[in-house]
Amino acid sequence: MSPKVSERSASPPVTVHDDNYKIKIFHSTFNLITHILIGVVVGISVIFSFRNGTPLGATPLHIVLCVVGYQLLMAEAILSLSPHNGWSSNLKLVDKRRAHWILQTLGSGLAIVGSFIKIIDKSTHLNTLHGKFAIAALVLTTVSLINGLGSLWAFELRRYIPINVSKLIHIGIGIFVLPTSSIALCYGFDKSMFKSWISDEVAFTLIGCTSAFTVIISFNSFTTFLVKLWKCFKS
Ligand code: HEM
Repeated sequence: MSPKVSERSASPPVTVHDDNYKIKIFHSTFNLITHILIGVVVGISVIFSFRNGTPLGATPLHIVLCVVGYQLLMAEAILSLSPHNGWSSNLKLVDKRRAHWILQTLGSGLAIVGSFIKIIDKSTHLNTLHGKFAIAALVLTTVSLINGLGSLWAFELRRYIPINVSKLIHIGIGIFVLPTSSIALCYGFDKSMFKSWISDEVAFTLIGCTSAFTVIISFNSFTTFLVKLWKCFKS
């Protein structure tokens, strides 16, 4: 028997377990990339805001609060519910939900305060695309926060609104919060004050990083939304 044949016959047959293994590696690689992209975008925004030291003025303060609120805490809140997310995958479902609403509430709080700090600082409003998307994100965040309470107490409120419907409304509105705030952030990175500090090339790379993790995370929530919509129609 040639050594080649014996080598081939020695390799184990491909099993269903191997297929799951590949899918798991695919998901965890994407999850790792998402966390790295979030870290780069949030980290550089925070370094930019602290470049002149403390105390922070209204503009750097609104950047820190909004970016940490939306792109760090809210993004992690969405990821916490994903079965493939590194830090939350071993949590029980009840603790995943707890982590989700705590991160979501904290993130919304920081983002709302950060947005109002800049709104109060400005005399004219909605005069830039950055401002328009940021205020749209602020409105969606406020609605989503109130509506999230309906989802949190969905069981208690089931007499008035079916559980699946209240969760569907929550995800349906929530889907738009991260993308809207990320568009505002990209317009922020496009501002000359930021590009002259970091260079055009790096600013555009950061816009690419923000778009990439926003698409990956939103795709996750969009599929959950479709599954819940399907269940709603079936029941
Ligand atoms: C998620 C991230 C961000 C959010 C949610 C956000 C939110 C806001 C809001 C609500 C306003 C007031 C808009 C208005 O009253 O019309 C504003 C204005 C402003 N922001 Fe941001 N911001 C973010 C990131 C950034 C970044 C990264 C920069 C710069 C590097 C920046 C620079 C400015 C400046 C210069 C203004 C005043 C001019 C304007 O309205 O466009 N922001 N931001």
